[in-house]
Amino acid sequence: MSKDKLRRFAEIATFDNVLELEAGKALKGNWSKTQFKNNKPLVLELACGKGEYTVNMARLFPDKNFVGVDYKGNRIWRGAKTAIEEQITNVAFLRIQIENIVDYFEAGEVSEIWITFPDPQPQISREKKRLTAPRFLEMYKIILKPEASIHLKTDNDALHAYTLETIEKQNLNLDICTTDLYHSEFVTDVLSIKTYYEKKYLASNKNINYLKFNF
Ligand SMILES: C[S@@+](CC[C@H](N)C(=O)[O-])C[C@H]1O[C@@H](n2cnc3c(N)ncnc32)[C@H](O)[C@@H]1O
Repeated sequence: MSKDKLRRFAEIATFDNVLELEAGKALKGNWSKTQFKNNKPLVLELACGKGEYTVNMARLFPDKNFVGVDYKGNRIWRGAKTAIEEQITNVAFLRIQIENIVDYFEAGEVSEIWITFPDPQPQISREKKRLTAPRFLEMYKIILKPEASIHLKTDNDALHAYTLETIEKQNLNLDICTTDLYHSEFVTDVLSIKTYYEKKYLASNKNINYLKFNF
């Protein structure tokens, strides 16, 4: 492991806004009250990487709390460090496998979920690993409030199509669907936030897909 990665791992262990394993589990049901010391709605960014959505949404919406979730500590470090340096207090990061999300959030605790450029897992043998596979949707349904939205931004046309098909098969409510977000009528401040991966795809003129749906 590089020296830089080791330094980041050591540093996030000292950050109050990064939770791992047992410390995260202890917050189940009490994220807003205990971590953020308020009772504002809680929004998750899954597969957050460096946490661009988490940090930028926190700037746009000071009336909500944001938690970025990813298992890669060296990526989470970037967003957590920015939030500390800029004193953005409505941000935290949770370093876990998303497969275990129901161990960290109580039923109905979450007001919204953003899934930003998740790994597409194109092989059919890895369908279960896609973050919009039915087994993940079941978990999100538990932790979300009724009718709360799930947003998916992806460069991957096959993952977009797969998710749309899953929404239809499961009879979920589709609010927005576009295969070309930045040439659509749906662009807003929040949808214009660009992640590290998104900037790379846009630089090669890739279309960006977006879905918004609920249970
Ligand atoms: C392609 S990157 C996208 C990162 C960021 N959202 C962006 O757009 O720049 C996918 C991220 O998902 C994370 N990830 C993939 N599967 C995961 C899982 N099961 N649990 C937690 N994190 C996961 C990876 O660590 C990686 O940071």
